[in-house]
Amino acid sequence: MATLYLRDTHTTLTDPDAIAAHLAPLGIQYERWAADRPLPEGASADEVLAAYAAPIAKLKQQGGFVTADVIDIKPDTPNLGAMLAKFKSEHWHDEDEVRFTLAGRGIFHLHLESGVIAVEVVAGDLLRVPRGTHHWFDLCSERRIRAIRLFQQISGWAPHYTETGVDAGYAPLCLGPA
Ligand SMILES: [Fe+2]
Repeated sequence: MATLYLRDTHTTLTDPDAIAAHLAPLGIQYERWAADRPLPEGASADEVLAAYAAPIAKLKQQGGFVTADVIDIKPDTPNLGAMLAKFKSEHWHDEDEVRFTLAGRGIFHLHLESGVIAVEVVAGDLLRVPRGTHHWFDLCSERRIRAIRLFQQISGWAPHYTETGVDAGYAPLCLGPA
């Protein structure tokens, strides 16, 4: 389950209900999802999307999402460093960033009016970062994540960099259980 770090006050939350309750008033949606059938380790993208069809359909309805896909990033993914570099600097998007983690883990830093919050996501975690929210993302040491992405419009997904340098003040952090 996710770990939430309030990085400015060095407070950590690990209870999913507490994390959801902390993030909801900030406009950030956090949920735990379960597949409706057993999924083998090597399940195809289509099998994954079918197993999570119900929560995906609900979210699509709520948020105007039109497409869902599955990304699979491993340590030997070509150009992984360049890909990660695009998201390690503080940026924002014209549409919500929605990720449901299937395997591996990663860490989102959210730069909010109230401070900087980090959310380490693992299998079963759905996180929705609203459009316009300043944030950055990185993988953890095992450099592995498989996730469902939902898009409102593919063109809205390009990052706009803030160039504030705020991200440099927060050392990479992944402390939760792998
Ligand atoms: Fe992003």
